[in-house]
Amino acid sequence: MNAAPSEIHFTSGGTEADNWALRGIAYSLKEKGNHIITAETEHPAVIDTCKDLEKEGFDVSFLFTDNIGSVHPHDLEAEIRPETILISIMHSNNEVGTINLVHKYAEAAHEAGVLFHSDLVQSYGKIPIDVKLLDVDLGSVSSHKIYGPKGIGALYIRQGIEIEQLLFGGHQERNRRGGTENVPGIVGFGKAAELRASRLEQDSIRLKNLAASFFERLSEEVGGVKINGHPSRRIPGHLSIVFDGVDGEALLMNLDTTGISASAGAACSSGAIKMSSVLKAIGLSEDEALGTLRVSFGRDNSEEDVSVAVSAIKEHVARLRKTIPEAVSS
Ligand SMILES: Cc1ncc(COP(=O)(O)O)c(C=O)c1O
Repeated sequence: MNAAPSEIHFTSGGTEADNWALRGIAYSLKEKGNHIITAETEHPAVIDTCKDLEKEGFDVSFLFTDNIGSVHPHDLEAEIRPETILISIMHSNNEVGTINLVHKYAEAAHEAGVLFHSDLVQSYGKIPIDVKLLDVDLGSVSSHKIYGPKGIGALYIRQGIEIEQLLFGGHQERNRRGGTENVPGIVGFGKAAELRASRLEQDSIRLKNLAASFFERLSEEVGGVKINGHPSRRIPGHLSIVFDGVDGEALLMNLDTTGISASAGAACSSGAIKMSSVLKAIGLSEDEALGTLRVSFGRDNSEEDVSVAVSAIKEHVARLRKTIPEAVSS
């Protein structure tokens, strides 16, 4: 990621890195101001930390996004105030797959003299990430998203930035995070990063092609499908798809029995629909969120897997569309 080794601080994962970036900067700059800006489509590691900081007297603006899940740089500029101390906007969205033009947010932040953090978890190891080109001051990454071990991640902290520590104890991580290092995790993360870097370009092309062929075949063979998020500026291999007139959760369970794993965009429990906050933020209706399925292809998937998944989806969707409950038919 083009960071100096001294700028990398190992954590227990992306969640801790996000928590540390937000809390650490909030506490270290609290004399300067109490205002933080983020987006309503962020991962809970950012949203919930911000909500908790609100209880401590910080004022957080959760910016609206457009229908692909991106904040408009003008909206960001308009929200910056003299008391703004930190802006945090993710590089790519885990639910809808859109890649944000983060350097534009960093530029707006720096023009106003505000620090900028980005959750890089979904992008790092899948698309080229250069913290100097992006001009981020802090960036969170996670090992298990790049086939490394679970329970290890890192926070990039640009040279010269002061940040409060959250874990006190020993002098590890340059006196910034106490606690004996998770050496096996760190070594595994390092190896995974090395492997990803050597395969990034070829895997990214392959995954983009697999996802494109999957969606094309769904459009032709299943029909009534549309992509959530940006049509092309997306995480390679990631798709969030609305199936018209289908209960995504039922589809998910049917696929699971066929050995296909995916995730749904809404859950229906005790008759009440719990819609994903991200899908709600990008303007999806309840029916569309209910019909959403998130699918990601990985390094072990092949064109044959695409065929197996398309056939299974075709069969289940045809059945589910026939037996559709009133609540999901539009
Ligand atoms: C965008 C984003 N941020 C943060 C996290 C949390 O990372 P970890 O699982 O390493 O705590 C995730 C994990 O799903 C994520 O997708």
